[in-house]
Formats: sequence, structure tokens, C-alpha cells
Amino acid sequence: MAKKPASGQEMWGGRFAAKPDEVMEAINASIDVDKRMAAEDIQGSRAHVRMLADSNIVSETDRDAILEGLDQVEQEIVGGDFPFRKDLEDIHMNIEARLKEIIGEPAGRLHTARSRNDQVATDFRLWTRQALQTRADQTRGLMEALLEQADLHADTVMPGFTHLQTAQPVTFGHHLMAYVEMFSRDRSRFLDCQDRMNESPLGAAALAGTGFPIDRQKTAADLGFKAPMANSLDAVSARDFAVEAVSACSICAMHLSRLAEEIVIWASAQFHFVRLSDAWSTGSSIMPQKRNPDAAELVRAKTGRIYGALQALLTVLKGLPLAYSKDMQEDKELTFLAFDALDLCLASMTGMVSSWTVDKSAMRAAAAHGFSTATDLADYLVRELGLPFREAHHVTGATVKLAEDKGCDLAELSIDDLKSIEPRLTDAVYSVLTVEASVNSRQSYGGTSPVRVREQVSRWKELLS
Ligand code: ARG
Repeated sequence: MAKKPASGQEMWGGRFAAKPDEVMEAINASIDVDKRMAAEDIQGSRAHVRMLADSNIVSETDRDAILEGLDQVEQEIVGGDFPFRKDLEDIHMNIEARLKEIIGEPAGRLHTARSRNDQVATDFRLWTRQALQTRADQTRGLMEALLEQADLHADTVMPGFTHLQTAQPVTFGHHLMAYVEMFSRDRSRFLDCQDRMNESPLGAAALAGTGFPIDRQKTAADLGFKAPMANSLDAVSARDFAVEAVSACSICAMHLSRLAEEIVIWASAQFHFVRLSDAWSTGSSIMPQKRNPDAAELVRAKTGRIYGALQALLTVLKGLPLAYSKDMQEDKELTFLAFDALDLCLASMTGMVSSWTVDKSAMRAAAAHGFSTATDLADYLVRELGLPFREAHHVTGATVKLAEDKGCDLAELSIDDLKSIEPRLTDAVYSVLTVEASVNSRQSYGGTSPVRVREQVSRWKELLS
């Protein structure tokens, strides 16, 4: 039978006579949050003890005992029967205490030339590095889903808006490709951040480094870091990597919320541009006609908690003197929260986009409303009749007014109506008044024309393959 496990205080309480207050224990413990870094903590300990043995700081026998003990700890955690204890504060002390129960005395040698300060910084960097990779991959998955839809809808015409007022016809593919561009920048922010933060704090010890002849290059390489961090104070104090990561999450959430808002609008009965699949819609308990875009609304809403985490993180870190302060323990919960929310948002958005049904005819009809080809008429007057653009704008304004008075679209005005405003107009003008002509004409680089959209779809498919 294992002997009674050490209390948290037994880990550091050499000069303490009384036990901590219950509330002290409650405010101090982080195990409920940081147990998520158990795998990273074990990974860090393995690298550390291998290096300690290679540097003749612990014996090979002790190293092997520690490694075997860590294997068992890992199995218990994976198997769900690890005895997590609040009185042991955090994941670092929980694992070390359990290791001691399993292997006894050699466990005490693992913490040589190490402190929880460099340990937690290492675990947290390992966790964040992986989380950034996963979000980058998910963002890529969303881009692929958008690309598929953009390909399908390269020549589906919809109204383009400014101020949410009909502006000019665009292609739905073009609209979706705008999001591909945004999410590609989000993805590169995740990867840039990952690259910048990929340095090892391990070996900085409490704050000043250590007198033991450790090899920080070795542990850094073992853990897949590019290099050890060059300043031990920075190594244990810096959390800008988490701020940057949550900031990248925030920007991505902001983009997701814009697409989510568009989905809410498009899925309304008034627009009817898209219909979310059953898997991504909810009904109402009282109104049987409803198909609610709950997931899109929640993607929109979760942006709040992600920004909140960023604000809270910045505030927690503001004004902290070097080096470690316990304030920093709050960083993980906020970071996990932001990454978790973004995880759900990216997955939901990908699910909605890849399974929605697009109502092309509703989009086309809406595109033809609101005099969306007025700019095409003005451009035509400049091109064909040599009018200065300002005058063309004026003539077009009068034409729109006439159509408005008659309750019809520009293309529905008779040639006599048109001539009453500009006598030099001929039947040829009708060729620019349709929405298809409008989008086809916009072939400038980056424009909405189907040829340009298809080019961009191929370019992105190539880039992502
Ligand atoms: N649980 C702590 C944290 O998350 C670990 C570091 C504790 N270091 C200390 N000096 N008390 O920040």
C-alpha cells in the first residue's frame, strides 16, 4: 500500500508550522486548470532528467527510475485514475508528489536545477505551440471549405453591399474568397506567433539561472524548441507569447463573427440566400416555421469571451515587476478559454459552410434590385459617349430617379425613357444593365468577374496543396 501522500506544504513547507487556510488553498490552487498541461509537464520533466543525467548531475540509475515513474504517472493520467489533489496546488507538484509515491527517494532529484517558474513557462509554451498549430490547421480546413463553395459559385451573382445597401452586383464566389484572404492572414498569424514563441525557458530555474552545469541547448532541442531563451529573467517572466496567441485568436474570432453575421442575414426569410443544413440549424419550441442559425449566432457571440480573455490577460500582466509573480498563474485559464472557444467557432463555421444550400435565384433577384447596375450605366456613358464621370453620374442619377418613379429596374426602362434623359443612348446600353454583364465586366485584378474568381480559387488550391 502506498504511504500517505505528501501534502502540498510538505513540498516546500520546511519552515512552516501551520497549515494554509482553506480559502488560501482555494485561491492558490490551479490544478483544475493546469491539469490540462499534464502531458507537457511530463514531456518537460523527461527532457530535464535526461539532460541532468547526461550532464552527470543525477545518476543514470536515478534517471531511469524517474523515467519509469513518469511513464506510470502518464498512464494513470491517460487512464483517468490519477489522484489529482487540490492541496498539491498545481500540476507540477501533483506529478512530482505522485512520482515520489511511486519511486520514492530518486523523485526528489528531478527538481534539481529547476524551479516551477521555468517549469510552468515551459509547459505553457509547449501547450500554446501545439494549440497554435491546431488552430492554424483548422483555419486551413475552413479555407478549404470556402474554396470549394467559391469554386461552385464563381459565377453566382449576388448583390454586393456597402452600408448593407445594395451597391453593385458581385459574385458569391468573390465574396467567399474575401474570407479566404482574411482567414489566410489569421492562419499566418498563428504560425508567425508559433515561430516567435518557440524558444525554451527550461533551465532559467527560479529566475537567475543555476550553478549546476546544465545543458539548455540539449533540453531545448529535446523539446523541439529552436533555442533556449537567452535571458533567464525574461524566460520566467515573459507571457507576451500568450498575449500574442490570444490576440491572433481574437482577430480570427472577429473575422468569424463577420461571416457569422452574414450567415444570420443570408439565412433569414427576407434574404433567403442560404439555407443551413439540418445538422446546423435549430427549431423553435413554439414557432414551427423557424430554422434558427444558432451556431452562427454563437460564433458571433463567442467573440466576446475571446476578446475578454485578451483584455483580462493584458490586465493581469500589466505592471508586473520581474520576475515571476503569482498573478501569472491566471494566464492559463484565459488562454485555454480563448483557444477552446475558437476551436468550436472554427469547427462550426467549417460545418455550416460546407453543408449549406445556396439559393442562386434569390441571390440573382436581389442583385437586380436596388439599381445595382447604376455604376455600369455611368461607366458606359463615360466609355461610349465620352461624358466626364461626374456628368455621367448625374445622368445616371436622373435615370435611377425615373426608374424609381416608374417602379421598375434600370433594365426595364424603355429606350424612349432612356433617351428622354440622354438622347444619344441606343439599345446597346441594355448590354451593360444586366447583373451578369456587370460582374463579367469587372475583370481588373482582384475584381469580382468569374474569370478572376476562378483564377484566385486555383491559386489558393495550389498554395494549400
Ligand atoms: N501554478 C503556478 C503557475 O501557474 C506555477 C508556478 C509557481 N511558482 C511559484 N513561484 N509559486 O504560475
